[in-house]
Order: sequence, then C-alpha cells, then structure tokens
Amino acid sequence: MKLLLVLMSSLSLVDADSDVIGSDKPVTVTVSDNVILPCHLEPPFNVRNLTVEWKRGETIVHIYTNRKDDPGRQDKNFRGRTSVFHEEMIRGNISLKLTSITELDAGSYTCFVPKLQSQVRRGFVNLTVEPVEQKKDKGSPTHKNNRQPENVVKKAPINPPYTANIRQTISGHSEAFSS
Ligand SMILES: *[C@@H]1O[C@H](CO)[C@@H](O)[C@H](O)[C@H]1NC(C)=O
Ligand SMILES: *[C@@H]1O[C@H](CO)[C@@H](O)[C@H](O)[C@H]1NC(C)=O
Ligand SMILES: *[C@@H]1O[C@H](CO)[C@@H](O)[C@H](O)[C@H]1NC(C)=O
Repeated sequence: MKLLLVLMSSLSLVDADSDVIGSDKPVTVTVSDNVILPCHLEPPFNVRNLTVEWKRGETIVHIYTNRKDDPGRQDKNFRGRTSVFHEEMIRGNISLKLTSITELDAGSYTCFVPKLQSQVRRGFVNLTVEPVEQKKDKGSPTHKNNRQPENVVKKAPINPPYTANIRQTISGHSEAFSS
C-alpha cells in the first residue's frame, strides 16, 4: 500500500519549474528536405518518463509516452515522418524531426509537456516551407526542345493493344487489361 502511494505521487506530480521553450523565429525548410523543430526545457529537465505531445493546431503530429513513441494516435499525414530524440530527452531536449517535407507541413506547431508543474508547459514553433529552387526556369527552353508531344500523341493510339499484349505475356496478370 505504501509503495502504491509513493508510486502514485511520483507519477502525478513532477517537481520541476522548467519551462518549455520553442522558437521565437520561424524555422524555414525546402520541400522534400528534413527539418528539426527545436523545443527544450529550461532549465534542463529529464522528460524521459513524461508525455510529450507535438501538434499543429489540433492535429496530432507526434506523441511520446510511457518511454516510447505512440504512432497510433498521430495524424496519418505525419505517419512514418516524425521522430523525437530519446537520448536527448534526458537533457530536456524535446525537438521534433520531420522528414520529407511538403507544402502542407507549413504552420504553427506546439510542443507540450502536460505533466509539467511549470505554468509554461507549451512551446511554439512556426514552420515556413519554401518551394524547391527554380530549376524549371533554367531548363524550360531545353525541355521544350526535347519534348515532342506530337510523337507521343501519335504513338499512343497505335500502341496500346501491342503494349498490353506484351505486358500481359510477361506478367501473366489480367491487370494489363485495365491500362
Ligand atoms: C506564428 O505565426 C502566427 C500566425 O501565423 C503568429 O500569430 C505567431 O505569433 C507566430 N509565432 C511565433 C512563435 O513565431
Ligand atoms: C523513469 O522510469 C524508469 C522505469 O520506469 C525508472 O527506472 C527511472 O528511475 C525513471 N527516471 C526518472 C528520471 O524518473
Ligand atoms: C536537440 O537535439 C537535436 C538532435 O540531436 C539537436 O539538433 C539540437 O541542437 C538539440 N537542441 C538542444 C537545445 O540541445
């Protein structure tokens, strides 16, 4: 019984006046790159045993709880693209890594440690996503010369039955009929 009480009290209250700190300045990243959204506790505090939630608006980006990540509750658009640095958490670093950035990832993110005693349990980070550098502009004259849409269009009506036959033979699947 005593042990249970001790356990319960150690779980419900966290004796720390550390604040959660995000970033004053927006973080900028290019489409398809990876990015780290910075967030940490100040002064440093071990959050290895606490819950950490990353959200964008109401969307759940990443949840860390019971000493591991909980991908079941995150939004499907973030599935397989997020991580936190478990070893860094010992020093209060709860930064989020986000991979394969798309324009849809831009927005206001929050890092949240619900069990913290401090009044400042949330940090904020804005993410700005920039398009890939304009390689298209440089390449467009060449592209126009290389592309021969007329040929493609001419070939298209002639070849499908032939192509379909080959694919059917190779694969042996009826899939070929659908294309
Ligand atoms: C993030 O962006 C919102 C509006 O888009 C702005 O109100 C807020 O102050 C920004 N926060 C930070 C920490 O840059
Ligand atoms: C975190 O939990 C583990 C086991 O659940 C325990 O051994 C460890 O002492 C705890 N660490 C802190 C900082 O509370
Ligand atoms: C947190 O960890 C990440 C990944 O190792 C690192 O890039 C970042 O600088 C760390 N932040 C702090 C405040 O230590």
